[in-house]
Amino acid sequence: MEEELLRLQSEAKTELSTIIRPDELESFRVKYLGRKCTLTMLMRKLGEVSAQDRPRLGNLANSIKKEIEADFLEKEMALTQLQATGKGESRKDLTLPGRVIPFGRRHPVSQVMLEICRIFEGLGFAVAEGSDVETDYYNFEALNIPKHHPARDMHDTFYFDESVLLRTHTSPMQIRAMEKQEPPLRIIAPGKVYRCDSDITHTPMFHQVEGFLVDRHVSFADLKGVLSIFIAKMFDSNVAIRFRPSFFPFTEPSAEVDIACVICDGKGCRVCKQTGWIEILGAGLIDPEVFRMVGYDSEKFSGFAFGIGAERIAMLKYGINDIRLYYENDMRFLSQF
Ligand code: FA5
Repeated sequence: MEEELLRLQSEAKTELSTIIRPDELESFRVKYLGRKCTLTMLMRKLGEVSAQDRPRLGNLANSIKKEIEADFLEKEMALTQLQATGKGESRKDLTLPGRVIPFGRRHPVSQVMLEICRIFEGLGFAVAEGSDVETDYYNFEALNIPKHHPARDMHDTFYFDESVLLRTHTSPMQIRAMEKQEPPLRIIAPGKVYRCDSDITHTPMFHQVEGFLVDRHVSFADLKGVLSIFIAKMFDSNVAIRFRPSFFPFTEPSAEVDIACVICDGKGCRVCKQTGWIEILGAGLIDPEVFRMVGYDSEKFSGFAFGIGAERIAMLKYGINDIRLYYENDMRFLSQF
């Protein structure tokens, strides 16, 4: 019996040490401390051993039982504590389906930018890119907007210091390209621009695609033709558009192009400020003063330029009634595109 008791003691110790989860404890308790467990059975048999050995074996059986009980309680406490602090080991369920990693996709404004570029590339325009940080010279002066010119008020500019700023439009790319290259040229310049401006049709950072073409005998009719092709390709070809006379110091004559508001179908709403139209771009024939700044002969060459607002195109294309939605990073909104 002594041998059996000692074997049981060592078995119980080994088995308890392999237990790692609280729900495994109950079967251990039934096996080693339950009413019908081996230890209880052995203790019942104590009456059959000789009177001489009985007290010694009885004491041994009792101390083994106490030891198993104490070890059991200690383990139970340790495992409960581990579970409460979240450090307990949990068994992996290998039958669960794996986590699906969602596919990312392009931001709707990036999609529109790419589409605009693709259309103009199809018309023979080359793509040029410039920096978001510009100098006062390229952003204003070289574009015939000297210091204190009232046109500067139209651009609420973020300045770093007196002469360095975040570009307020992509038009500085006209100067940078023309300084490097002789006519003929046919370029688009997509990029981010910045203005201290925010409401349902304005964001402080937005995207423009500048386009300009310089050659001999370029006329306003060429500008209208190119922009009409662009709009027909970008939208349904039946969309209503209008060219409206406007003013930019770097183009003469100048125009702005509006598209019938898709939110109210041209009837007038909050988005189009009750006009029925949304402005998508500014354009015009390049002013001879700009040609003089880059050393082009305005007697020989003429050209047109335009600057398209990509967020406005995206609003009209997808029927979005608040431009700020594009920059709130709400996945429920963005994942629709
Ligand atoms: C300009 O920025 C001129 N550089 C465009 C130009 C280029 C004219 C070449 C002539 C020749 P304007 O400030 O109107 O113009 O902006 C052009 C377009 O950008 C607007 O028609 C509009 O679609 C968009 N836009 C202007 N401000 C914002 C803004 N805060 N948020 C979103 N889009 C804007």
